[in-house]
Amino acid sequence: MFPLQRPRRLRKNEVIREMLRETRLVPSDFIYPLFVVEGKGVRKDISSMPGCYQESVDETVKNVKEAFSLGIRSVILFGIPDVKDEKGSGAYDGNGIVQRAIRAIKDSVPDMYVITDVCLCEYTSHGHCGVVEHGEVLNDPTVELLVREALSHAKAGADMVAPSDMMDGRVGAIREALDEEGHSNIPVMSYAAKYASAFYGPFREAAESTPQFGDRRSYQMDPPNRREAIREVALDIEEGADIVMVKPALAYLDIISDIKGAFDLPVAAYNVSGEYSMVKAAGRLGWIDEERVMMESLVSIKRAGADLILTYFAKDAAKVLNR
Ligand code: PBG
Repeated sequence: MFPLQRPRRLRKNEVIREMLRETRLVPSDFIYPLFVVEGKGVRKDISSMPGCYQESVDETVKNVKEAFSLGIRSVILFGIPDVKDEKGSGAYDGNGIVQRAIRAIKDSVPDMYVITDVCLCEYTSHGHCGVVEHGEVLNDPTVELLVREALSHAKAGADMVAPSDMMDGRVGAIREALDEEGHSNIPVMSYAAKYASAFYGPFREAAESTPQFGDRRSYQMDPPNRREAIREVALDIEEGADIVMVKPALAYLDIISDIKGAFDLPVAAYNVSGEYSMVKAAGRLGWIDEERVMMESLVSIKRAGADLILTYFAKDAAKVLNR
């Protein structure tokens, strides 16, 4: 062939490169995660996640306005209540922290699409994602509480709910309850293939949700497993999921690609806290070009097959895309 085929011809300058670019990011690809705490005027640094904060409802609203002006169209809310208990009551309290945040955001930025993380770990005193008995996380009693949580988010005005607990059968139970209560138009984005990952470390500082004993391996997936992800996603789709998520993203691009190929539903990927913190840390040390690594990571997640990316970089990346 050589020298007939010279692929470099099509990389000669930025004009032709831009014409032939196969994957493009836009700010509306991103879902921006927010940590909401009690109080007023609170904006507390999360030390392992520079640029991310625990914010009270009023500060959250300001942040949401800024994100919207940058072209970000969706946020996902995590609530951190002052009081936690065995059953995570704050999660399904009609006047809980997330419920109030939803109302405040919808009041001032009605077009921001508000997704809520449906899980108990931020609300339980033991930090597990469900009801614990004799050191074990019980599946079915947990599902009942998750259903109450999802319903209470929907009642408060959430646009979409996203169960992240990995209990069996929760997508179906939530779907059925939403339909019964008149919320048949609220989609469920399930954390379908969620792995028991060490990349969640910084999030647990942010959400104050580190398990007080044991770990999450009895409910989250085993990182070496690939075929099992297909099975988890298939089950969630049978149960009525509208969007399926793979989490984490960067160490799981093969899984994103598999899911994209195997199903015809939209795929989301969660570029998790540890993935964010590593880029920030190396950037601060001057070991990498933070901005370029950020954009390359995000485009790789989309190239692998993600239609939506949950990322703490949402605002930073939107700023780059807007200039
Ligand atoms: C709650 C939840 C977690 C994350 C999202 N939802 C933590 C966990 O499962 O321990 C992690 C997000 C991140 O690391 O950015 N179950």
